[in-house]
Amino acid sequence: MKTILNVVGTRPNFMKIAPIMKEMKKFPEQIRPILVHTGQHYDEQMSQSFFDELEIPAPDVMLNIGSDSHAKQVAKIMIAFEDVCDEYKPDAILVVGDVNSTMACSIVAAKKGIKVLHIESGIRSFDRTMPEEINRILTNSITDYCFPPSSEAVDNLVNEGHSKETIFRVGNVMIDSLHTFQTKIQQSTILEKLDIEPKEYAVLTLHRPSNTDDKETFLRILSALEKIQEKIKIIFPIHPRSRKMIAEFGLNNYVDSLKNILLTEPFGYLDFGKLISNAKFVLTDSGGIQEETTIYQIPCITLRENTERPVTVWEGTNELAGTDTEKIIDLSEKIFRNEWKKGTIPELWDGKTSERIVDIIKKLPL
Ligand code: UD1
Repeated sequence: MKTILNVVGTRPNFMKIAPIMKEMKKFPEQIRPILVHTGQHYDEQMSQSFFDELEIPAPDVMLNIGSDSHAKQVAKIMIAFEDVCDEYKPDAILVVGDVNSTMACSIVAAKKGIKVLHIESGIRSFDRTMPEEINRILTNSITDYCFPPSSEAVDNLVNEGHSKETIFRVGNVMIDSLHTFQTKIQQSTILEKLDIEPKEYAVLTLHRPSNTDDKETFLRILSALEKIQEKIKIIFPIHPRSRKMIAEFGLNNYVDSLKNILLTEPFGYLDFGKLISNAKFVLTDSGGIQEETTIYQIPCITLRENTERPVTVWEGTNELAGTDTEKIIDLSEKIFRNEWKKGTIPELWDGKTSERIVDIIKKLPL
């Protein structure tokens, strides 16, 4: 029997851990999965609603860390997680993605001689100003078994010195949730609630510190949105960080004056899936949304200079706009002219990634 601590902390972790927990629970003789939530995200809409909608069992361990500076948040997670390791004496921990919780728990486990399994290994933006890039590099430098989603992620791991026997290209586990819950997603009544029609609106998400914490950058993006909303309604579920920065920069009145932008609270998984899958296009600085729009084959304009998910540009429906006002507007015009690429689905993004992961874990010498 292998005891495995599965770690989550933030919103983008939940749709990755849900299918893995479910799959692990099918093999109670071989795997004892323990779910640990660091509490990095704690708001109802950022956390609990995802447990409910994705049918994730309540965490076995809740650390309630909450928000703080990165150093303090990571330090608090490490201190608390060390006790969890001492209590459960796991054979391995499994971490997903690239958030502070991912890195903090990996360091604790590696130093205690506990094997680290990392899902979504090897993706790189090569931009060290991104906190997530630091988390990816540090996590993978101590990962024992890597589960990358795509071929370029495998190459990055090999280039960083991982031996091929420890790398398992399994595909994209987030897509498993998208498939599993597709019927429920399409049953969401969010379009009726917002009084919008399919393909007659765009969706915007914005929360990267590089975009929200610098007033000039934020204003360049807002100028583009001001222009785009003249042509199409924009639904903007706002992340707590962005809401805070809009107020701090004194931009509340400006944002309110953009009448065709609808600011809302963050949506749950099902409503958000329904929204993006029926949108004319999506503007985002998120990582996961670049992948989900690729699966839905919905045009995605990414408000970043780079991406750790280049396969969504090479094969999918994603284009990088950076934060240049004109570039963002030009790309949206391309969509209005119906000149956007159709995109194809990357290999192994097929909804069966959690099966492959658990199958491999059962055989690993942990
Ligand atoms: C984190 C991840 C990011 C991921 C994002 C998804 C890191 C370094 N970043 O960023 O990769 O894309 O989650 O949302 O781990 N806050 C709330 N309620 C919450 C959580 C946060 O109000 O439930 C506010 C707090 O003011 C907090 C701020 O949001 O200070 C930022 O939260 P934090 O967890 O530090 O990072 P995110 O920006 O959410």
